[in-house]
Amino acid sequence: MKPLNSSPIGIFDSGIGGLTVANAIKKNLPKESLVYFGDTAHLPYGDKSPDSIKYYSIRIADFLIDKNCKAIVIACNTASAIAYEVVKKHVKNKVLVFNVIDPVVEEVCLQNPKKIGVIGTKGTIKADAYAKKIKLSNPEIEVSSLATPLLAPMIEEGFFNNNISKTIINSYLSKPKLNKIDALILACTHYPLIKKEITEYYQKQINILDSADIVALKLKEKLNQLNLLNNSSSKPIHHFFVSDFTKSFEKSTKLFFEGKINLEHFPMWENE
Ligand code: DGL
Repeated sequence: MKPLNSSPIGIFDSGIGGLTVANAIKKNLPKESLVYFGDTAHLPYGDKSPDSIKYYSIRIADFLIDKNCKAIVIACNTASAIAYEVVKKHVKNKVLVFNVIDPVVEEVCLQNPKKIGVIGTKGTIKADAYAKKIKLSNPEIEVSSLATPLLAPMIEEGFFNNNISKTIINSYLSKPKLNKIDALILACTHYPLIKKEITEYYQKQINILDSADIVALKLKEKLNQLNLLNNSSSKPIHHFFVSDFTKSFEKSTKLFFEGKINLEHFPMWENE
């Protein structure tokens, strides 16, 4: 079936992180219906092998195509860094595919900082996608990347805005690699949930960029160009699927999407 203007936007991540992007899409594109897949059975993605990330991403993309999505947003930096090209190749021209890295790189190059820090999962930092892409557009910008693997599981467990999260965040941000940066990229979609604590650490002295709004605006621009925005007056419907049902996912979904939510367990990996 060919996607229509009223078809939903598909979004996926390992868990709740992508909800920060889904929330920004809901805010910037209030007429669009969303289908969200949280691969909670495989969380965290940050320490999985590139082959596993590619395999999960392709299977999830197929699931979202089955739901007749008109676009797929890879709302996960790890999967964006490792699997974007294979997903695009796999889906061919059936659906548009967006990653969360390119729009942020574009924004960074516009802002033109002298030295920028990047924090993300081991997978994202190892793939070095931000540094490579920034250097391609502007070799003058110094990029210093640091893996912060405890942060996504910490957030997923609901540890933010407390003493434990503060200690872990401060210990990462005080590493010499992040000395003298004038901007910081939160290269994990979970991190907007600790943006307040990171801003406090830097006492508002540096610019902190995350992908949520930047990606939502890019998506809006592209759908508009292609005449694919939903113009109908009917109320959008959002569906959430998880590969393993977790209480933290349910709680976070309710934080972002008020009221009754359609959250289903979809056992994508059963019998594998
Ligand atoms: N939110 C994801 C990211 O942006 C994944 C975190 C994880 O599962 O390790 O990288």
